Amino acid sequence: MDETADSPVEIPPELPLDELSVVFGSLGRALLCIDESFHVVHASKSFDLLVGGGATERLIGQPVGRILGDGLFGPDGTLRRALEAGQRREGWGATLEIEGYRPRLISVSCAPLRHEAGTRCDPRVSYLAVLRPSEQTESLGAAAPTLFSGILARSASMLKIFQLIEHLGESDATVLITGESGTGKELIARAIHMHSRRRAARFVPVNCGAIPEQLLESELFGHVRGAFTGAIRDRDGRFQLASKGTLFLDEVGDLPLHLQVKLLRVLQERTFERVGESTSRTSEARIIAATNADLRQACAEGTFREDLFYRLRVVPIEVPPLRQRREDIEPLARHLLERVAARYDRSLRLAPDAVREMLAYWWPGNVRELENALEFSLAVCRGETIHDQDLPPEVRDRSTPRSDEASTAPSDVGPGADEDPEAASLRAILDAHGWRREATARALGVSRTTLWRRMRELRLLQ
Ligand SMILES: Nc1ncnc2c1ncn2[C@@H]1O[C@H](COP(=O)(O)OP(=O)(O)O)[C@@H](O)[C@H]1O
Ligand SMILES: [Mg+2]
Repeated sequence: MDETADSPVEIPPELPLDELSVVFGSLGRALLCIDESFHVVHASKSFDLLVGGGATERLIGQPVGRILGDGLFGPDGTLRRALEAGQRREGWGATLEIEGYRPRLISVSCAPLRHEAGTRCDPRVSYLAVLRPSEQTESLGAAAPTLFSGILARSASMLKIFQLIEHLGESDATVLITGESGTGKELIARAIHMHSRRRAARFVPVNCGAIPEQLLESELFGHVRGAFTGAIRDRDGRFQLASKGTLFLDEVGDLPLHLQVKLLRVLQERTFERVGESTSRTSEARIIAATNADLRQACAEGTFREDLFYRLRVVPIEVPPLRQRREDIEPLARHLLERVAARYDRSLRLAPDAVREMLAYWWPGNVRELENALEFSLAVCRGETIHDQDLPPEVRDRSTPRSDEASTAPSDVGPGADEDPEAASLRAILDAHGWRREATARALGVSRTTLWRRMRELRLLQ
């Protein structure tokens, strides 16, 4: 049959999704069509290939935040806010979590759908998101950050940790997470649990440093009635509670020696006794421990058992301090600012001068300190934009010692520890933008010529 120009072609009042599925699948991509309230209206069949058979069906009607993380698509999610403001975002890392399937690290680009006159896309669709497996992204050092189970980063060192967590998915191995306070050790422990086969069971945290020593044993292992004054009934310990799940022993370096012996035995034989009882019980709990102490040193000093140390660090994860991954500072600051501002029902931006100060500071309290600094700034900031003068005084004080200032300087261009703080700060900003001058100039709010002049003055021209 002839089709003349004036005989209207019947287009179903929907996106021809089956055909689109084929297209996206062939390109190794998966497509989500999202409505105004951020629920999935359509999903391309390629999700079955990406995640596993039957996954696509599960997506329909789900809130996008539940699938790709509330940090990105929840009510205050970073990408949601961008979409609502009519903006497009490319190549963000995220975890795709569909109930019943193992989470996948993916890369997501999203945009508002323009309903042009004359086309008949499903009117319910307001936004589109295109996903691809992250193995295909050149994610190391990429400009766009990754949000992995609530952990935001773009530094190669953190992305490596994300990959390790993915690879640990089938394993029950004991993990020891080390790193300074506030680097995100607990978040990492939770992510390991969420990516493991135990994710449907409990994640039970215990802070070994915060519980008084005389209570800690009963807290961990439980007790029977009458075991000590105040033990008025039998009580299960956290090993019991976590039996099918994960037990997170935070500040494990604070564990007293006699409990270290008991812990070693659970790790080796899976057995323990409640306080005041002689019958042995078993626990299948998976153990993740964390510490900001130097356990090797503690072993040398005799305050930590060496056999326990090695038994715990079957899989060691070292979380670098924030100052050694400066490229994470800016995206983290924006992400945390959104989170903090939402709590106060405000919406704030970061001025380039504030970013510059934050990049030059050494953050001894790491991400926790960054979060607190933003909360401080939000409290003192009158307008809509946080400037350098709104930051806490210690962040702005250039005389603060910066012990390992030069540790992230690229070795081929980095002078050394005595580099001028201005130069160090500019270098960090350049690092964060992959030394692309146009992007760096934009981030700093200066012209390219001004940037070039500053680089020459600070001897940063390569
Ligand atoms: N990479 C990150 N992305 C988002 N939030 C982070 C990140 N790292 C740390 N945080 C936040 O910083 C705070 C401290 O993290 P936490 O895991 O408790 O650190 P640690 O256990 O190492 O002291 C928490 O509020 C946490 O949500
Ligand atoms: Mg902690």
